[in-house]
Amino acid sequence: MCGIVGYVGPRSALDVIIEGLRRLEYRGYDSAGVALIAGGKLESERRAGKLANLEAALAEHPMSEANTGIGHTRWATHGAPTDRNAHPHLDCTGSLAVIHNGIIENFARLRAGLEERGHELTSDTDTEAVAHLLEEEFPAADGDLAEALRRVCRKLQGAFTLVVTHVDAPDVVVGARRNSPLVVGRGDGENFLASDVSAFIAHTREAVELGQDQVVEIRRDGVTVTDFDGNPATSREYHVDWDASAAEKGGYDWFMLKEIEEQPQAVADTLLGRIDVAGRLSLDEMRLSDEELREIDKIIVIACGTAFHAGLIAKYAIEHWTRIPCEVELASEFRYRDPILDRQTLVIAISQSGETMDLLMALRHARDQGSRVLAICNTNGSTIPRESDAVLYTHAGPEVAVASTKGFLTQLVACYLVALYLGQVRGTKWGDEITSVVDDLRAMPGKIAQVLEGMEPVRELARELCEERSVLFLGRHVGYPVALEGALKLKELAYIHAEGFAAGELKHGPIALIENGLPVIAIVPPPRGRNILHDKIVSNIQEVRARGARAIVIAEEGDTTVDAIADHVIRIPSAPTLLQPLLSTVPLQVFACELASAKGHDVDQPRNLAKSVTVE
Ligand code: M6R
Repeated sequence: MCGIVGYVGPRSALDVIIEGLRRLEYRGYDSAGVALIAGGKLESERRAGKLANLEAALAEHPMSEANTGIGHTRWATHGAPTDRNAHPHLDCTGSLAVIHNGIIENFARLRAGLEERGHELTSDTDTEAVAHLLEEEFPAADGDLAEALRRVCRKLQGAFTLVVTHVDAPDVVVGARRNSPLVVGRGDGENFLASDVSAFIAHTREAVELGQDQVVEIRRDGVTVTDFDGNPATSREYHVDWDASAAEKGGYDWFMLKEIEEQPQAVADTLLGRIDVAGRLSLDEMRLSDEELREIDKIIVIACGTAFHAGLIAKYAIEHWTRIPCEVELASEFRYRDPILDRQTLVIAISQSGETMDLLMALRHARDQGSRVLAICNTNGSTIPRESDAVLYTHAGPEVAVASTKGFLTQLVACYLVALYLGQVRGTKWGDEITSVVDDLRAMPGKIAQVLEGMEPVRELARELCEERSVLFLGRHVGYPVALEGALKLKELAYIHAEGFAAGELKHGPIALIENGLPVIAIVPPPRGRNILHDKIVSNIQEVRARGARAIVIAEEGDTTVDAIADHVIRIPSAPTLLQPLLSTVPLQVFACELASAKGHDVDQPRNLAKSVTVE
């Protein structure tokens, strides 16, 4: 939600900011704006719509050359996505500009006070209140912009990243964070602020992770971090282990396509270094001792969206391999139902971005109740792993498309590793059983690559079905969350009605939806070992087909039972039942991507969405 960039250094601030906003546009794309300090003046431009609208405006009305500035790309919360509500927001005198990510919850009261004191507010946003508060505090802080921001932050409630520039402090940019992300990029004679490192990765890979309730001041020659009271604060410095090319489209039409294709490598990278020479799993970022893990008597997985589907699949593996009871819950619901939590409960929080506010609030609730939290996350330095007791990074590389793909597969792998590790530590799995699953996991990158090679018929089918108004997905066991994930992908990208069902539930109601020609996509488990799940879903496919549905079936190579009952068969390589989602999800990603493309939609930036959801 909202991308933020700030720059101080010798380069053209506008060029650095526009390039950074392009990389951050996945975070929000309702409007964009910039503010620069040039020749003793503050210049600002902002436009509703995508970054391209702002760039067109800048081409028509070029801004002056400047070396200090800030930029913003917005996902609207308070106020419609119009020019007027686009960031930056200025004070009454036009001397300072503010950009913001998050929600200032007490803004109505602050705004009323400001208006009483004679300020003229011109937008419907919560952010603008901050600009006017800073206008009051800047002189009171003797022109020290960081001090003025600290004073303002102490008055704010809610979640915020704020970045500010002021005409009377032309060589600094200041920022503050509470519950929303902000990282510093440390360059040589230049420094950057951004919502995530991709904004400055082309210039530096040295980053500083800001902590909760910190204010930062960047200058050409340095960076100063304090808490909201002005005390020096410590922050973690780290080196980013991927480069600018990882955040580019690399010749693909969409980031999503590139990220789908990257899945074999991403899965291999998640597995890398986890198995020691003796064949034992070692998860060194766990920071929870084996003894603590042996005390666990319940696991609760919390997550949102696609990550929640990964959690649903994890439950099958965790309970099967460890015999520990496992619940899976949407993070947005978790803390409101008063869950039973204690020291013996391990909470697993799954998030690609590490920023999802619903999840952050849920994990804080769990820790407040004494539970231990293990984060499974893709984004180094983000808030969720930092606030957890332990973290397992997925190492998938940056995921830019709003629709999560490689994020999902690598979350699955991380969940399998955690389940196996618990099985190892608690002795519920023999060493050779673990080795055998690990070998199966190691074969997955090759099998995912095989699935990807055979995707042309899936793309053709997607183009053929692009005028459909509804598609249903069926699965059983781990195939059920895969069905949910297939439906979510289609909803968010193609904007059509799509629903995933547990196939056994059909007869309890949803079968009434079936009508002539309705596409129904079914995920069929492996047929081996007289798999009862396989036979049951074959019956369910026959039931929908008998009522006129067009049956599209994802089944293993060599599973001939489906030939007679399916209108289309999508083949995937064989895999153990629990690991099959690593393969069966891939055609559904490709299907949704192609269908949305055929409808002419922006696949990477679907309407109304943002990549990181940093509001509740
Ligand atoms: O960054 P997170 O994994 O915490 O994000 C959770 C969801 O917002 C995310 O998976 C969302 O559902 C995706 N757009 C789905 O493709």
